[in-house]
Amino acid sequence: MSLEIRKSIDSDRSLINHIHEQAFGLENSREIITLINDLLQDQTAEPCCSLVAIQQSKIVGHILFSNVKIISDQGVISASILAPLAVIPAAQNQGIGGQLIHDGINQLKAMGVPVVFVLGYPEYYTRYGFEPAFPRGYIPPYPIVKAQSDAWMVNILDADLARKYQGKIHCADAFNHPEYWRE
Ligand SMILES: CC(C)(COP(=O)(O)OP(=O)(O)OC[C@H]1O[C@@H](n2cnc3c(N)ncnc32)[C@H](O)[C@@H]1OP(=O)(O)O)[C@@H](O)C(=O)NCCC(=O)NCCS
Repeated sequence: MSLEIRKSIDSDRSLINHIHEQAFGLENSREIITLINDLLQDQTAEPCCSLVAIQQSKIVGHILFSNVKIISDQGVISASILAPLAVIPAAQNQGIGGQLIHDGINQLKAMGVPVVFVLGYPEYYTRYGFEPAFPRGYIPPYPIVKAQSDAWMVNILDADLARKYQGKIHCADAFNHPEYWRE
């Protein structure tokens, strides 16, 4: 089935909310929808990259990347974080999540973003170029319990900058709440 990935527009907003409701369930999606709507209005989250996947004229998936800063001994540079990602149950396991990640990462690379973080399922995101971030020297904004430390991952897009700039990550204001940092 053909798939189109494009940047989201304002009028997609309620359909995007619906994608997350279906993927995460009504209860769990509340927090996620709040995060999306807050990030899309937050200047400290810019540049954001919000993409939707369209199959048979219907939005079936959504991914959002927002800006973070790496505070390192060498100075401060901008990077990006992936959150959230959702594909409706009826369209899962067709590679749509992977395509959203792939296209988003390519757009960020073209913008010169050196690294992209995610806090998520290690078995899933390592398929798409992510690796554990702690061994690379990246510290998340909030502590992550040791048993879940592999969930804190990074995708290296510029190896030289990634080597030079390591340290603590500062996320956008909208993301800077401990409840968003539990895996
Ligand atoms: C996770 C999610 C985005 C994957 O979307 P998708 O379009 O089905 O993903 P893809 O088709 O690219 O990949 C499917 C593969 O990933 C695997 N996979 C899906 N969720 C996984 C998970 N949580 N952990 C490990 N592997 C997972 C599937 O089993 C499938 O494996 P296979 O190719 O060996 O059959 C989708 O299942 C979803 O929206 N889930 C609910 C919301 C969610 O958990 N979002 C991620 C938050 S970190």
